[in-house]
Amino acid sequence: MKDFIKILSSLIFGVIFWACNTVNTDSNLVIYQPQSELELAEMNNPEVDEVFKSDFDVSKLDDSPENQMIKLGYDIIKFSPKYVGPESNLKLTGNHLACTNCHLDAGTKPYSAPYVGVTNRFPQYKGRSNDTISIEQRINGCMMRSMNGKPLAENSKEMKAIVAYMTWLSKNTEPKNKLKGKGFLKPTIPNRKIDYNHGRTVFENQCVSCHGIDGQGAFDESKGQYTYPPLWGSDSYNIGAGMGRVLTAMQFIKGNMPLGATYDNPTLTDEEAYDVAGYINSMTRPSKTNLSQDFPDLKQKPVSSPYPPYADKFSQLQHQFGPFPEIIDYYQNTYGLKKTK
Ligand code: HEC
Ligand code: HEC
Repeated sequence: MKDFIKILSSLIFGVIFWACNTVNTDSNLVIYQPQSELELAEMNNPEVDEVFKSDFDVSKLDDSPENQMIKLGYDIIKFSPKYVGPESNLKLTGNHLACTNCHLDAGTKPYSAPYVGVTNRFPQYKGRSNDTISIEQRINGCMMRSMNGKPLAENSKEMKAIVAYMTWLSKNTEPKNKLKGKGFLKPTIPNRKIDYNHGRTVFENQCVSCHGIDGQGAFDESKGQYTYPPLWGSDSYNIGAGMGRVLTAMQFIKGNMPLGATYDNPTLTDEEAYDVAGYINSMTRPSKTNLSQDFPDLKQKPVSSPYPPYADKFSQLQHQFGPFPEIIDYYQNTYGLKKTK
């Protein structure tokens, strides 16, 4: 009888083990299919336009009135808290982040949503407002979301300086071109939910040395800004921000984190970038008002937007933590829309 129970229990265990493994193997299958040869080449072998090798050192510019504006723009991007944030008189940004914390090297690093070429891409259609928006409006999008604050007046000196800096960075790019190195890398999206425990392990092994086990980074009192920025909590980006979407965070992390990672020498696998993005975006962060009014044409909403409403039947939880390929397929098949984030 004892033996029978032993055999039975090992049998049951075996079946459960087998089932889990099967599920696991299945869930690791990747069904996201690149649509074209070009896209496949882009995913496997990302390239960067020559223009990124330019000398973007603003200190080499003389002090003409135009150049002074470019230099001021650079300073605002680099030291935002002191110029437009809590350490300034304007107090427009709601956190102590600097633009350069996400747009690395003051917006000159490829695949870190660089500003190089950006002024040539605006005015641009934007799903968030179902409208064509200007570069100033796009900048204010980050002011209100990534920086959890208020918009800069379009005719303010600060706004003009930021645009002058971006225009200077873009001077050697073609109008409306598809600059190689813009935006973020497009790693393969695993066809499964976020694995929270794996995300935590990646975080503990690869991120805490700078961002801290509590994710709050390291603040430099003397500069009034972060040496290592926080990844969640009250001084982080709000839930309406691009980085608040798991797929956008995954793309940023893949090509840029841990610090030192680059598009051609990433540190994390796609699965690691995916799970750690899910881990940091499962933490609390500031909310944003009027989020339900984002994306008047709901079809345009990115699939990993963590807040409702949606133009589909998938749950909010699935929009937050996947699996994403079936949502992506739904928009492709129903509306012919190709979504990557
Ligand atoms: C927490 C990270 C974060 C911070 C801080 C941040 N941004 Fe962004 N920004 C993003 C992300 C992510 C995107 C791309 C969003 C998307 O994919 O929709 C973006 C996009 C942009 C774009 C459009 C880029 C393009 O190629 O179309 C501009 C311009 C921009 N940000 C300006 C700024 C400015 C100016 C600041 C500081 C006032 C700032 N951002 C701060 C995350 C950030
Ligand atoms: C060696 C230090 C270091 C490590 C390790 C590191 N980071 Fe960062 N991280 C930074 C710095 C510094 C910045 C800001 C970049 C800048 O200002 O140039 C940053 C910025 C970020 C940002 C955007 C800004 C923000 O606060 O939201 C995210 C997201 C991020 N890191 C996630 C990660 C993740 C996830 C890992 C682990 C996989 C990681 N980082 C590992 C130093 C590090």
